[in-house]
Amino acid sequence: MQIQIGLLGCGTVGAGVVSLVRRRADRVADMTGLRPVVKTILVRDTQKDRGVSFIDEQLTTSPEDILADDDIQIVVETIGGIEPAKTYILEALSRGKHVVTANKDLIALHGPEILQTAAANGVSVLFEAAVGGAIPLVGPLKENLTANEVTDLKGIINGTTNFILTQMTTRHIDFAEALQMAQDLGYAEADPSSDVDGLDAARKLVILASIAFHTEVHLSDVRVEGIRHITATDVRYADEAGYVIKLLAVGRDRDGELTLAVRPTLIPKNHPLAHVSDAYNALFVRGDAAGDLMFFGRGAGRMPTASAVVGDIIALVRNLKLGFVASSPNGSAGERKPVVERE
Ligand code: NDP
Ligand code: HSE
Repeated sequence: MQIQIGLLGCGTVGAGVVSLVRRRADRVADMTGLRPVVKTILVRDTQKDRGVSFIDEQLTTSPEDILADDDIQIVVETIGGIEPAKTYILEALSRGKHVVTANKDLIALHGPEILQTAAANGVSVLFEAAVGGAIPLVGPLKENLTANEVTDLKGIINGTTNFILTQMTTRHIDFAEALQMAQDLGYAEADPSSDVDGLDAARKLVILASIAFHTEVHLSDVRVEGIRHITATDVRYADEAGYVIKLLAVGRDRDGELTLAVRPTLIPKNHPLAHVSDAYNALFVRGDAAGDLMFFGRGAGRMPTASAVVGDIIALVRNLKLGFVASSPNGSAGERKPVVERE
């Protein structure tokens, strides 16, 4: 039996999802008796070359071809931004479809509404790809580390800025040239200012902190500074002094008081985070029982991100086999924790 998927958007990430679903379909069918198949794909321009050949998949410019199709059980959103992605996701959930999304803007800003809509309709929303590209972060924080009080999150969670800073340091190219390369490689957001001004990392920190610290976190809780003003001279002086500049995201929970910040930081060259280069991401997590953990991997790009999206799709297929609805990774419990400005 087939599990039919509707894909909203088919750019860098969506095209990777199409090819990876095809590659893994046999294995999932062997494991579960259910074969995931991308049936319909929503785009703006059906004639565009997407670096993937379409076999049985139908391209459409009408969202209703997915949202009103009762045979489609899973909707995967890779459009990005708030609208129309939000409307389509809420509509899909209301019509009883499970949703997988890579959209951190939407989850950071409207996560509670989306998760509540999913719960009210008895369906799941999974968003592992929204943070850290290929690196499993949402799942471990929500499931594997749930026995811990997590006190610290610290790391590099934006691939574009890390790529730019790496290129400026190692190849001595300027900011604009490095940004263009990151865009050409498919790392940057449609509006790259959200990467370079730190907002993308801040949105990801909102998602991670709300899960890790079991509270509702808002974007306005995060002190944000980007890398736009970092010059080749800054990078050279840092280098000569034995440091590299990294855009760090930091979240701390000290007895129920939170500190949340994203900012360029001088890191000694012998620190593990100094060796996280190009579009790689890394996150340190400290839990009271687990101690220190470090997650590392490709934080952006077509196939790394497709890995996380398709992992969520396969989790949903398994759940469909078992007749189980994944719990929403909401994490918030009780009063909202206060945010303090320590630094
Ligand atoms: P792209 O810009 O490459 O792709 C967006 C796709 O959405 C395109 O196929 C576009 O269609 C389609 N689209 C845009 N607007 C509409 C609309 N109004 N109606 C229908 N289709 C529309 O984005 P990415 O693939 O890079 O990113 C997608 C999502 O994944 C974003 O939320 C992003 O933050 C997230 N993400 C991206 C990562 C990356 O490395 N790129 C990593 C992790 C998450 P058309 O092609 O016809 O214009
Ligand atoms: N623009 C994002 C980044 C994509 O560079 O990290 C991955 O979320």
